[in-house]
Amino acid sequence: MKNVTITVNGVEHRAPVEPRLLLVHFLRELAGLTGTHIGCETSLCGACTVLMDGRAVKSCTVLAVQADGHKVTTVEGLANGDRLHAIQEGFWEEHGLQCGFCTPGMIMCSHDLLKQHPSPSDSEIREAINVGARGGSEVSHGTQRKTQTRS
Ligand code: FES
Repeated sequence: MKNVTITVNGVEHRAPVEPRLLLVHFLRELAGLTGTHIGCETSLCGACTVLMDGRAVKSCTVLAVQADGHKVTTVEGLANGDRLHAIQEGFWEEHGLQCGFCTPGMIMCSHDLLKQHPSPSDSEIREAINVGARGGSEVSHGTQRKTQTRS
């Protein structure tokens, strides 16, 4: 076991963890934040996407020990109290989901994209979504277009 301290959504979480524990399991089981979903667990679907030090990462590909000392933002950390983040509002208003399972990951992926490219081209949006969260790309594409002027 190794003691880790990971700041999640501005709150420090300290815990002894097995070296093999994935960040997504740390977030869901030890930090109690179940908004980050587990889909494929093989780095394909993007449902588990969170921000680590401001950049999108698939939390099923990061060990909790690798996140030690880092800042992680989950979908729960985007809202400001009862006020949704502009990207969350955009997904809500445009019904930017299919079954909704990967929506948290798509929102986090969108956040990273818009931070890096405030006015992404259509191809940049497609590329980011394809790399970050496969599935539901057309819905997310339209939602990103709607939200890029809000965030
Ligand atoms: S659960 Fe991490 S990419 Fe699918």
